[in-house]
Order: sequence, then structure tokens, then C-alpha cells
Amino acid sequence: MLEKLASQQHNPSGDGVDVNAFENIPRHVAIIMDGNGRWARRRGLPRIAGHRAGMNVVKKIVRAADRLGIEILTLYAFSTENWKRPKDEVDYLMRLPEQFLSSYLKELVEKNVQVRVMGDIERLPAHTRRAVDKAMADTAANDGMVLNFALNYGSRHEITEAVRRLAIDVREGRKDPEDITEKDIAKYLLTNVYPDPDLLIRTSGEIRLSNFMLWQLAYTELWFTDVYWPDFTEDHFHEAIRHYSGRSRRYGGVKE
Ligand code: IPE
Ligand code: IPE
Ligand code: MG
Repeated sequence: MLEKLASQQHNPSGDGVDVNAFENIPRHVAIIMDGNGRWARRRGLPRIAGHRAGMNVVKKIVRAADRLGIEILTLYAFSTENWKRPKDEVDYLMRLPEQFLSSYLKELVEKNVQVRVMGDIERLPAHTRRAVDKAMADTAANDGMVLNFALNYGSRHEITEAVRRLAIDVREGRKDPEDITEKDIAKYLLTNVYPDPDLLIRTSGEIRLSNFMLWQLAYTELWFTDVYWPDFTEDHFHEAIRHYSGRSRRYGGVKE
């Protein structure tokens, strides 16, 4: 009991969440937030109602991650394949960053969170870009948790771009092909400044990666849940962290 009290006193958030309840807190957590459409359909609602509900869960999980002291939270918000969806749905999804940030950016600034976006942002509608550019600019001086949105992100596109840029370096004589290392490739990825994710969470019962961080997830611990994203709670998040805490990461080696 005393130990528990002492550990709570060390909790910088001071809101009763015992961060020391977890042996290991992952530095970088990535989430494939899936199941918004099915959540809505189950309630007889249009798919966009699921996206709206999902947006509110993002806020809760950002707060939870921040309280735990996670350094980087990467959220898959829109894939390079999601353009295939009906125009109405795509239009709605492209409005979500504005909606999300209009009600939440102030809190992110105050919480010292750094907002980042990875993906082909040039191809986003101008209004979406303006919203994310503002969020990145307003939080640029912060040095707390990185909230990294994968927006119009596709891992194959990212790797293709990296290879293309590396090939240009070779052509221009800046790089000898014999000297290309894994580090060189990682340097050209959109995640170049971050460590690889320690934990990947995917909601909604789908057990696949859907073109998400294929290079970076090589040794990531994976955690899947049947819960739809709009139903995902801080408790589910803690459950994932607890699983992560108990895992033995060997990276191909041997541990006693
Ligand atoms: C995830 O939920 C959100 C995005 C991909 C933008 P979905 O919209 O994929 O929901 P399901 O998978 O159809 O239920
Ligand atoms: C992955 O989910 C993309 C995001 C969560 C943003 P999808 O719903 O697009 O993936 P698939 O189509 O089920 O593989
Ligand atoms: Mg889906």
C-alpha cells in the first residue's frame, strides 16, 4: 500500500493513474484506428457518424498516452488507399482534422504536445493542409509528446520515395551504391527522426497491416483487439500496454 502511494506521488500527471503499474512503458506506440464504419453500421448510423465518434476517442487516447509518458504516438488516420471510398466519406474525413483541431489544438499546445504529420500531404485538400500546418506551427516550440498523424500515408509509397531519392543521390555522385546501409534507407523514410514503434495496436478485429509502417514494424510488438475504435477506452489502451510490458523482446537473439 505504501509502495503504491509512493509510486502515485511520483506520477507527474497527478491524476491518480499509476504509471508505475507498468513495468515497461513503450517509447513509441502506433495505432491503426479501425472499425469506425462497422461501429456506425451496427447502430444504424451513416459511416461518418463512426468517424465523428472515433475523433473523440483520439482525444481520450492522446491524453492517456501523455499521462503514461509515451514519447511518440503515431495514429493512422487516412491511408493512400482510402481515396477509394465514396466521395462523401472522403470529404468528411478530410474535414476531420479541422474539426479535431478547432476544439483540441489549444489543449495540445498547453500540454506541450508536438503535432506532426507524415504522409503525402501535398495531395490533401488545401483546407486540410491549412489545418495541419497550423497545428504543426502552433506546437513547433513544444518539446513534449509527439503526436504523429499518418495522413494520406502508405508505407509502399514511403519506401518507393526513399528508394527514388537514394537513386538520385547515387546518380549525383553523393552516394556509392556499395555503401548503402539500412540506416541510409531509414534516413529517407518519413519516420527518420523517430525510433521504430515498440507497440502496434490495431482495433476492430482485422489482423493485417494495411500498408502501415512496413519497414518500421520489423520488430514491433503487435496487439490486436476486436473492439471497434469508437469503443476503445483508456482501459483497453492500458491493457495493450500491460501486454507489451510482459513481452520478451529478443530481436533474434537469446534471453535467459
Ligand atoms: C477506420 O475505420 C478509419 C479510417 C480508415 C479512416 P473504417 O472507416 O475503416 O471502419 P471499418 O473498417 O469500415 O469498420
Ligand atoms: C487502415 O484501415 C487505414 C486506417 C485506419 C486509416 P482500412 O480500413 O483502410 O484497412 P483495410 O481496407 O481494412 O485493410
Ligand atoms: Mg477499416
